[in-house]
Amino acid sequence: MKYLFLKISAILLGLFLILGIVFVGLTGFFAKEYLQETNQMLYGGIADKMIKEVTPLVDGRVDTMAVQKIINSNMVINPSIEIYLLDTEGKIITYVAPESKIKSESVDLAPIKTFVNKKKFTFIKGDDPRSPGVQNVFSAAEIKDKSTNQLQGYLYIVLASEEQMSIATYLIECYVPKVGIYLFTAALITAMIIGLIAIWFLTKNLRRYIETVGKFKDGDLSVRVCKNAKGDFPVLGETFNAMADKLVANIDELKSVENLRRELIANVSHDLRTPLAIMQGYVETLQMKEDKISTEDRQKYLNIILNSSEKLSDLITQLFEYAKLEARQIEPNKEPFQMTDLVADAFSKYQVLAEEKDITVKVAHQEDLPVVFADVSLVERVVQNLMDNALKFTPKGGTVTISLEELKDGVQIMVADTGPGIPAEEQAFIFDRYRKINKTATKSNNGAGLGLAIVKKILELHNASISVTSQLNKGTAFTFSLPTYAN
Ligand SMILES: Nc1ncnc2c1ncn2[C@@H]1O[C@H](COP(=O)(O)OP(=O)(O)OP(=O)(O)O)[C@@H](O)[C@H]1O
Ligand SMILES: [Mg+2]
Repeated sequence: MKYLFLKISAILLGLFLILGIVFVGLTGFFAKEYLQETNQMLYGGIADKMIKEVTPLVDGRVDTMAVQKIINSNMVINPSIEIYLLDTEGKIITYVAPESKIKSESVDLAPIKTFVNKKKFTFIKGDDPRSPGVQNVFSAAEIKDKSTNQLQGYLYIVLASEEQMSIATYLIECYVPKVGIYLFTAALITAMIIGLIAIWFLTKNLRRYIETVGKFKDGDLSVRVCKNAKGDFPVLGETFNAMADKLVANIDELKSVENLRRELIANVSHDLRTPLAIMQGYVETLQMKEDKISTEDRQKYLNIILNSSEKLSDLITQLFEYAKLEARQIEPNKEPFQMTDLVADAFSKYQVLAEEKDITVKVAHQEDLPVVFADVSLVERVVQNLMDNALKFTPKGGTVTISLEELKDGVQIMVADTGPGIPAEEQAFIFDRYRKINKTATKSNNGAGLGLAIVKKILELHNASISVTSQLNKGTAFTFSLPTYAN
């Protein structure tokens, strides 16, 4: 704030000083001109008056008596003036000037003629014989022969003598520094006052901003710069608001990610602990009742242990797979292949399981489907996960259908079942890792809830997406598509 004030004041001061210097300079120049013009206005007519009384040139010769008379009368009016008698060419015949030496012998007649012929007063300057090159104000009159009225020469009077000019210069030089000092002081005070006012106006809104930012810093994340306080810095206010919104959104997201992570750890440890506990329990029983157990029971226990260890291994593999997919450590190794072959493979793999569960598996597709371009083993995992789910959730006597359909530039794959369906409000979450719907409804499901999350990640690697349509108690269908191979 202090620096801003000093900066604004310094800029204004500089501006005022420049204006002041220009003003003083112009005043000095015009003061001289003003003096000279006044002089000419006052005394411009004296040459005329004198000529009316005396004739200093008669037949080209100087009338000394007449000249003396001119000198006398002038001493009274203005002792500093210089009087010249010129011939018709402008040559100086004689002159009267206080203690001086003239340096030029003739004078330019053009301004004299203009002066003599003028009807009204005009400000006009002519040569000064004492200082060649310098122009001065003058008075002039024609000298004419009384009887013939013929032009004999000119009476030329330089009005502002050297002495007079030096007095004027001295006075101006005296006044200019004075004016300068006044001007500087006035400029300094004005600059400071305007600077203060400007600062006040500028910081009026800034202060509000600082207050808002301060509150935000202190933990009140809901504060925003209100609309009418945006004032001169609307962009600043909007940017702050946008930044605050983003920060709050990021914090919320971090919080939810953190919650999800906690949930994940809790679920994983639970899911790992269950089969482990089962295994531990049966192994302990086997140890304790080594002799008392029938072969049949022993076999049963060992089967349970084997099952649990398989489940554990599956779960760990799945977790590992998901973690790798999430960290983008898996690069799809894309190649052209026929989707019908992959589906036929899956069909034969699931045939046994389907028969066990009394479920009919169907495959439906047209002939001559185009070749798709994707990672075979990853797509196999997708189909496998969808088939796992379909067979797991579909009750006895149901049907699972895998159908393929040609699209404009791809092949659509659909896995549909006649199972219990997924409630609409759950459909959005089933692709999130560790999301299993209503646990009581799917008691039989002892999966980890990672299958669909893995499917989604794999399809993301192929720039594809998966969609679900489902009706409660009627069935569920998952659909995705892969691009055809363009060679
Ligand atoms: N075909 C389906 N019919 C009904 N519900 C389904 C179907 N497929 C998935 N679901 C629901 O979506 C949830 C998430 O499926 P997902 O495959 O991700 O996990 P899971 O099958 O429970 O476990 P995992 O696949 O890891 O063994 C399932 O728990 C189930 O509630
Ligand atoms: Mg599953």
